[in-house]
Amino acid sequence: MKNNFDLTSLLRPHILKLAPYSSARDEYTGSEGIFLDANENPIGSVTDQNYNRYPDPYQSAIKSIIGPMKGVTNDRIFLGNGSDEPIDLLIRATCQPGKDRVLIMPPTYGMYEVSASIHDVSVDKAPLTADFQMNLEAVFSEIQTETKIVWVCTPNNPTGNSISTQAIEGLLNRFSGLVVVDEAYIDFSTEESWISRLDEFPNLVVLQTFSKAWGLAGLRVGMCYASTELITILNKIKPPYNISLPAQKALLSGLSTMERKEAMVLEILKEREELRKMLEKLSFVLEVFPSDANFLLVRFEDAKAVMTYLLENTIIVRDRSKVYLCEGCLRISVGTAEENVALLKALESFS
Ligand SMILES: Cc1ncc(COP(=O)(O)O)c(C=O)c1O
Repeated sequence: MKNNFDLTSLLRPHILKLAPYSSARDEYTGSEGIFLDANENPIGSVTDQNYNRYPDPYQSAIKSIIGPMKGVTNDRIFLGNGSDEPIDLLIRATCQPGKDRVLIMPPTYGMYEVSASIHDVSVDKAPLTADFQMNLEAVFSEIQTETKIVWVCTPNNPTGNSISTQAIEGLLNRFSGLVVVDEAYIDFSTEESWISRLDEFPNLVVLQTFSKAWGLAGLRVGMCYASTELITILNKIKPPYNISLPAQKALLSGLSTMERKEAMVLEILKEREELRKMLEKLSFVLEVFPSDANFLLVRFEDAKAVMTYLLENTIIVRDRSKVYLCEGCLRISVGTAEENVALLKALESFS
């Protein structure tokens, strides 16, 4: 198979023709004036802070900071209501319900399949190898003419490892649909982001999020990086004001304290290795898998019993014991030093 990528033929025909909603602020982008164009409340808000004006639909102030940080122009950045929003929009843009298909590599992040299913889009599966790597041969044997998107999660959730660069290159070179590389956990890894390869591969889409390293899961802001043409399409089909005003304001202030993010990442990485060392000492732990993320996948002799016991101690971890290749495993997010001590203390008295 050779890559014949052509965005126009990949998109759903009616999306290409779509006339997007034109918001009031599309017509005038200045910040000064008497704004009588959007049926807002001119007096103020019921809250202490004023939120009576609609937010910037394209989040230009934020993109002006993120662009230079990531080495891309603003027209290659899309911001979504979490990275879950671009996951949904990419399917909407390309997949005809009941006809087109996407491909995932289990075990992986659950929303790729859920989002596809919401749109009545079939999901093909090319499971990872036993060492959690991409099986390129299996991927290409699953790809069909109707396959529009292949999802690659690196570092992968729930396994925690990064997917080989050569395998992703092999996929990008030979697959004519979109390859979406989800880098939600990239800040915890030493791997280089695929954003730097966007010029090389027009079919490459990179997802990142403010929910993990930046500590802003509650704000719901995710990033999508792609060709200008694809970003234009995502902007056309998104809800007009998809990032709220408080989220934009909080994010702008967060972006000015980059050092805080870096300090938190270092702390989490230190805690991750400490937690790994201690977990490996427990007799009922069979394996702690290598991790490039802010969690550890841990195989237990009896995961169900450990899960139940931890819940009794109000410690909540993620049960992945029924997931393919993760049999007997729990996924444990790295907590604060105190939380990790409490977890280990509880586990030490488990019998
Ligand atoms: C791999 C992966 N991608 C995307 C997301 C969604 O993140 P967001 O909070 O940006 O929607 C998650 C959340 O856990 C994730 O694990």
